[in-house]
Amino acid sequence: MSGARPIDRFFHPVLLSKKLKSKPVSIDVGSAGLPERVVLFRTSKGKIAATQDRCPHRGSPLSLGELRNDELVCPYHGWRVDRDGATTHPTSGPIKKCRVPTYSVHEADGFIWMASSHLARRASFPDVSEWTHMGSYEIPIDAPLELVLDNFNEDEHFPYVHKVLGWNEEGAHDVQFSCDVRGDELSVNYRGPQRDFFGRSFFMLPKNGFFDNKWVVRFDPVRISYLVTATDCAGNPVAPLRQHVVIYFVPVQKHKTVIRVMQYSSLGNSRWRLLLKMMAPLTIMVSKWDLEHDKHLLEKIVALSPDPGPIRYGTYDEPLLQARKLLRKVYWAEPTRAEVGHERSAQDPEFSL
Ligand code: FES
Ligand SMILES: [Fe+2]
Repeated sequence: MSGARPIDRFFHPVLLSKKLKSKPVSIDVGSAGLPERVVLFRTSKGKIAATQDRCPHRGSPLSLGELRNDELVCPYHGWRVDRDGATTHPTSGPIKKCRVPTYSVHEADGFIWMASSHLARRASFPDVSEWTHMGSYEIPIDAPLELVLDNFNEDEHFPYVHKVLGWNEEGAHDVQFSCDVRGDELSVNYRGPQRDFFGRSFFMLPKNGFFDNKWVVRFDPVRISYLVTATDCAGNPVAPLRQHVVIYFVPVQKHKTVIRVMQYSSLGNSRWRLLLKMMAPLTIMVSKWDLEHDKHLLEKIVALSPDPGPIRYGTYDEPLLQARKLLRKVYWAEPTRAEVGHERSAQDPEFSL
């Protein structure tokens, strides 16, 4: 069955694979459309299952119970639920017409992916076959999806929020920027002078090179695929190391979004994979540390002004406007202005540039 809720239409990465061991784990995807919590567990053969985290008897969370013979045993009165949602009473046996809702799950790229509908298919993932997987991680951010996505859709904040990749305040004068929308896909390009920093040579970044960051945003579900290269000012590569970072934005509550990050690197030739694997722990540490700066600032904004009021868009904010439109159209599947008979007005945000 398909519906309007994002979780009915798209697979979302909902948990780091390594976090699901022998114990069931309860997850929240409320803002993506499931008001109930979901419990994930692994069967003895390692298969992943997902059911509603609520016992049909008297509502106890199944995730608080134990896993026995591939069934969840409710901690309250011992009713059992298997991976297909079938229920069994501890003394009287299988219970007729009593099934717990189940969800589609699979495992890839370091994450467990879930959709509520058995018809759903995972949307195309950027082709990473030529890349070395450096690691996957997640960062919960206490901020709404829109605000988090805004932050990851511009590099204007690099001199102020970040310390390593990208340019400093002086370099901001030489930044090249473009933005393009094709169908439901948004492409953004930034190129600016790479600042000097301690450890620059670890990332094989030459002095006086440019930080070239190209990304594509898609909304089925919400994700950005970044391609980061060291170039000259005209965009010609000047170093072999390239980074490919894919971030999924999963809204779990109205004011909470989890970003789930998959990071890949390339040195242009597969024989360097071992070297990249050796660089992986430090690369992931630096990348995560960099994104923690985004989290820190976003959470401060929300804590101090939960309703930020009107926004005065600037030179670099065209991607934000386009992303908000596509977010409403594709991810939330809201009716368009034409469909609801909306008259365009000069007060609309997209007219405020
Ligand atoms: S609430 Fe689960 S068995 Fe009673
Ligand atoms: Fe940032």
